[in-house]
Amino acid sequence: MNISLETIVSLAKRRGFVFQSSEIYGGLNGCWDYGPLGVELLNNIKREWWQSMTFREDIEGIDAAILMHPKVWEASGHVANFTDPMVDCKECKARFRADQLEDAMCGNPAYKGRKAIKCQEEGKFTEPRQFNLMFKTFIGPVEEDAAIVYLRPETAQGIFVNFLNVLNSSRQKIPFGIAQIGKAFRNEINTKNFLFRTREFEQMEMQYFVRPGDDMKWFEYWKEERLKWFIELGLKKEKLRFSPHPEDKLAHYAKAAVDIEYEFPFGWGEIEGIHNRTNFDLTQHTNYSGKALDYFDDEINEKYIPYIIETSAGASRSFMTFLIDAYHEEEVRGEKRVVLRLHQKLAPIKVGIFPLVNRDGMPEIARKITEDLRRDFRVFYDDKGAVGRRYRRQDEVGTPYCITVDSQTLQDQTVTIRERDSMEQIRIDMNKIREFLKEKLD
Ligand code: GAP
Repeated sequence: MNISLETIVSLAKRRGFVFQSSEIYGGLNGCWDYGPLGVELLNNIKREWWQSMTFREDIEGIDAAILMHPKVWEASGHVANFTDPMVDCKECKARFRADQLEDAMCGNPAYKGRKAIKCQEEGKFTEPRQFNLMFKTFIGPVEEDAAIVYLRPETAQGIFVNFLNVLNSSRQKIPFGIAQIGKAFRNEINTKNFLFRTREFEQMEMQYFVRPGDDMKWFEYWKEERLKWFIELGLKKEKLRFSPHPEDKLAHYAKAAVDIEYEFPFGWGEIEGIHNRTNFDLTQHTNYSGKALDYFDDEINEKYIPYIIETSAGASRSFMTFLIDAYHEEEVRGEKRVVLRLHQKLAPIKVGIFPLVNRDGMPEIARKITEDLRRDFRVFYDDKGAVGRRYRRQDEVGTPYCITVDSQTLQDQTVTIRERDSMEQIRIDMNKIREFLKEKLD
């Protein structure tokens, strides 16, 4: 099914998944706010990722500070290399990434619909300049060069600098990993495609420390594991692919790298990178900090600087991917039905509960079921409008089950349970609802 990004953005706003940041002030470019249902979906994605990592024996979690010592970013190479080439239009003053002019559109209303590459051909642009993507701020009360700190552009560095702390406190042995979820900030020249490229976003990164020589084996292992994670949470297999980085395009720290890509309405795009970072990071931090970040491997009686296999996913980008992939429109009895076929582990609301009509004791029974289930699941009580409309409202936000209390409930204490995708309804005893849902949802 071909859907447009506008359809998703509009659903996201209407149903409280995502709002433009500071919207009442006209918005802030490249920043988005998660609404009531959005924050649930985002938290569910992060929880699934966190459990898939830290429920393993060989992975520990951390939560490092966003602000780090400025030398971290010198050692990592970000101060020198984390740049994009930028050009300015001398006529309309718009700013573009020089390496992405093919995709960009001219910002001048006088040339509506014209590609930016045309403006370049006509000599309207300045020569490319390197622009560092890190946001700068000052620590303490003095705004001077010595007080500059950066908002982290990736969470990975917080893991590298804590390698010894985690190793010594957790008694892990190589191979082992450190996982972290957190905000990252990049002053992207051109933000685009909703949550795909933003200036503030969240990453879910895991660094796996291995013996040199075992690195490619673990690279292959993590590549497959990460693809499996997306598929098990419901993304369509045929919309996913690996895209290896050619050797001449590898980042300065990488020996091998592969992206997991998804086919978005605007084309294929990266949702996660798996990188063999060699011993680059720990070597750099050893050199810059003067603290030896090595490991004594008692199995082979050798000291070495571990190699690192990194899995680096965007939580916000994954959020958008799950939303797009789950979106379906279909015709049911001559009417359009919009349904989010989200994996039930990700669905923001697990159960909708409706009294068929607002009388004869039905609302009271439905309320009681709601309060009973609230202890275990995120539930939503709805008594507004025709029951068909209430089903549609829950379908549109991906609620896997809806329970209706009707006149038969008053006679035999049974309710209907309707499943979102098949729309099939069964009748079950009111006392068995929790058991039924536990079996289906856990
Ligand atoms: N530590 C390695 C690293 O940060 P990256 O490929 O720059 O690698 C990893 O970023 C992931 O972070 C990407 O696959 C993407 O999901 C997400 N990401 C990166 N830049 C982003 C941005 N401007 N907006 C939203 N997500 C972004």
